[in-house]
Amino acid sequence: MKVDVLLGLQWGDEGKGKIVDVLTPKYDIIARFQGGPNAGHTIEFEGNKFILHTIPSGIFNKNTTNVIGNGVIIDPFILQKELNNLKVKNIDPSANLLVSKKAHLILPTHRLLDAAYEQAMGKGKIGSTLKGIGPTYTDKIARKGLRVGDLTSGKFAEKYESLKSKHLEILRFHEFDYENHKLDGVLFGEYEGKWFEAAETLKKLEHIDSEYFINRALESGKKILAEGAQGSLLDIEFGSYPFVTSSNTITAGVCSGLGISPKKVGKVYGIFKAYCTRVGSGPFPTELENEEGQKLRDVGREFGSTTGRPRRCGWLDLPALNYAIMLNGVDELLMMKADVLSPFDSIKVCTAYKCGDEICEESCYDVATDDVELDTIFDECIYEES
Ligand code: IMP
Repeated sequence: MKVDVLLGLQWGDEGKGKIVDVLTPKYDIIARFQGGPNAGHTIEFEGNKFILHTIPSGIFNKNTTNVIGNGVIIDPFILQKELNNLKVKNIDPSANLLVSKKAHLILPTHRLLDAAYEQAMGKGKIGSTLKGIGPTYTDKIARKGLRVGDLTSGKFAEKYESLKSKHLEILRFHEFDYENHKLDGVLFGEYEGKWFEAAETLKKLEHIDSEYFINRALESGKKILAEGAQGSLLDIEFGSYPFVTSSNTITAGVCSGLGISPKKVGKVYGIFKAYCTRVGSGPFPTELENEEGQKLRDVGREFGSTTGRPRRCGWLDLPALNYAIMLNGVDELLMMKADVLSPFDSIKVCTAYKCGDEICEESCYDVATDDVELDTIFDECIYEES
């Protein structure tokens, strides 16, 4: 057996959660392989609306095992809120939720660092969801991070304090008033207490060596779907850097985020919307900063499910879509929200970019960068209208 993959081909918010929910009955295991609570997968289930940030979208099916893989980063506080929301509706997620021991933890100070860095960048800010994603992956790569397995190591408090003190030093250097900064409506000190309570909940979930679990499950004939978060154009390598997230959002991320060989990747489902949206800063060649953009936002109800921010809207960008298809090796394309275009008399799709005297059909470096110096290179989009 192989691991099938479902992921977004644009800047996120393509409607992945809904499709995973439909596909779930076909799979024994749904696994998240990257990202963290910057994701917001909206699912309507028995008349209730749920937004999942960390938990895989197979959680509503009692027969599905849900795995939070090693490539995911977890904020215990946000995870606990998700678990509580599910319990209120009589869904007991702990019964079919497994967590990788190697998944890294988002500490309260990671969230403070995110806020401090964004504040320091002023106009050049990334537009982060401020969930601590960048700082947590930074510590992972810098080999300083804390993992789920550390929670039960007996030395967690010590390790936590050591990393926290390094973070506080940086915050002081940035003159960031962390003591008076609110996280989820409460001051840092109080939030930290809640975070530790939530860490106790996370401790009680089943922790696994997810790479062995996944590979053994494949050997025993289980069907597995890897659920992507964010979108391909936010990938740390191939997205519009630096306005990207800090993980590999593309198919390649499944191998490192779950511990499977590239030979074990099966069918790749690529999801895109019939138009484009983007939250946060960064290049967006087909963006409509006019009434048409507002109409797309209103009809498509384009507001962030994690932050509530209005999404930037624009026409479908085919060179960018082709780029994402190439990077991911997409086998099946799923187009979402075509009905949002119904109220429009005519619609456009971008087929190429005009870069100086050149016509460029690829999502090259010059188009996908916000470097002012390079603005002379990308001029405008070339559209087909119907
Ligand atoms: P971060 O991952 O929170 O640091 O955010 C980095 C960039 O990715 C920002 O522009 C965010 O708006 C964007 N982003 C992160 N997660 C999502 C998502 O799930 N959907 C859409 N955009 C996202």
